Amino acid sequence: MAEQSLRFPEGFLWGVASASHQCEGETTNNQWYAWQQAGHIKTGEQVGIACDWWRDAERDFASAHDMGLNALRLSLEWSRIEPRPGEWDDGAIARYRQMLTALRARGMTPLVTLHHFTHPQWFEARGGFLADDAVTRFAAYVAQVVPQLSDLCDFWCTINEPNVYATFGYTIGDFPPGHTGDLRGVIRAQAQMARAHAAAYAIIHQIQPNARVGVAQQLHTFDPARPRNPLDRLATRIQTTAFNDFFLDALISGQVAPIFRPLAGDLQAVRGTFDYFGFNTYARDLIRFDPGKWSEGFGHRTTAPGAWLGDPGTGGVYGEIYPQGIERFARDAARLGKPIYVTENGVADATDRLRPLILVTAARAMHAAIAAGADLRGYFHWSLIDNFEWAQGWSMRFGLIALDPTTQERTWRRSAHLYAAIARANALTPAMIAEYAPELMDGTELAAGG
Ligand code: FCB
Repeated sequence: MAEQSLRFPEGFLWGVASASHQCEGETTNNQWYAWQQAGHIKTGEQVGIACDWWRDAERDFASAHDMGLNALRLSLEWSRIEPRPGEWDDGAIARYRQMLTALRARGMTPLVTLHHFTHPQWFEARGGFLADDAVTRFAAYVAQVVPQLSDLCDFWCTINEPNVYATFGYTIGDFPPGHTGDLRGVIRAQAQMARAHAAAYAIIHQIQPNARVGVAQQLHTFDPARPRNPLDRLATRIQTTAFNDFFLDALISGQVAPIFRPLAGDLQAVRGTFDYFGFNTYARDLIRFDPGKWSEGFGHRTTAPGAWLGDPGTGGVYGEIYPQGIERFARDAARLGKPIYVTENGVADATDRLRPLILVTAARAMHAAIAAGADLRGYFHWSLIDNFEWAQGWSMRFGLIALDPTTQERTWRRSAHLYAAIARANALTPAMIAEYAPELMDGTELAAGG
């Protein structure tokens, strides 16, 4: 049977996601800049002017608008807004006001993230989120900034990927503060971020009763390498509980798994502090039980044969690209009874060999989730334009638009045209698949994808 067009609900948000440090340029006052100066970018590169957004984000906003997009997620750079404790930079707020005004003038809904991995160096020096007064400090920043932007934005993401921030910062060591094997740090940082989020949630709602406030949690698909093997299943469960569920359990029920409670402390105040369910998803690992890997929950990570693999960067860190996970996570989140947003999804793919397949598969996964009853209201592709990928520097290219960071020249990749077609039609049609992803025609999922 010939494939039908997949139409999306009216008002569905087709957006792109970004973060201040990765796009603005010259973010010299945050802990990632210090991390770079200390030589921790694996490629040896510098963030430099990045995509030059501090000077001219509007050029790329105009491209997003030309693409037919109706939403854009960006983050505020706390280190610009509060360069020293309790000192506020009005010029920084003024620049964000310009940016949000420019988006709204183009009919695009801004989704504003308050913390996307970066914060002022002074905050880091006090211990980051592990400092005793971290929640109070974060709350003061939120209380300062939200009233000054509330006429331009009512859609907030307090914290991006607390689980990635904590895991990469405290066990893997690729992110500042660069601890390795510090499992206590992973739990305590996320618990503190949950409290900081809850404080922000309350503050924003005091200022803007109708605001929509949530987080962007990273959800990674873990499947047992041998689906019937009980030990692989157990190891898969451990990975899921530790990485995906900890922060969400705090958010949803105020209770984390018993094993984490002594370190996490009381999280009752966090319960229910979200108006929408936001998740970022990229990849999948197949988990094989390995008794030697106790520090990784007895799980050895493997990749399905023939899997879609994005550009490896400097360490192949991102695994099998798996947009199919969107359907599973969105269907599972439906039980929460709140609107759902895919706050990030994409692939590092400089030559654009996979990105069109990823876009088609993501659209199918979302459509299936909606058909199954999930109240999924938007998709933010990571990213509009190539940007500085944390410790991987420029070695991973996530943009619909290619960027030459030296000349600042921009070039639309083919998938930018595909995404534009989807957004403008608010649908995925067989003609789009035939043109951009013929491998996937007539409902085909590539073997590796299934
Ligand atoms: C996510 C981050 C985002 C970007 C993408 C590729 O984990 O939130 O900043 O780096 O991965």
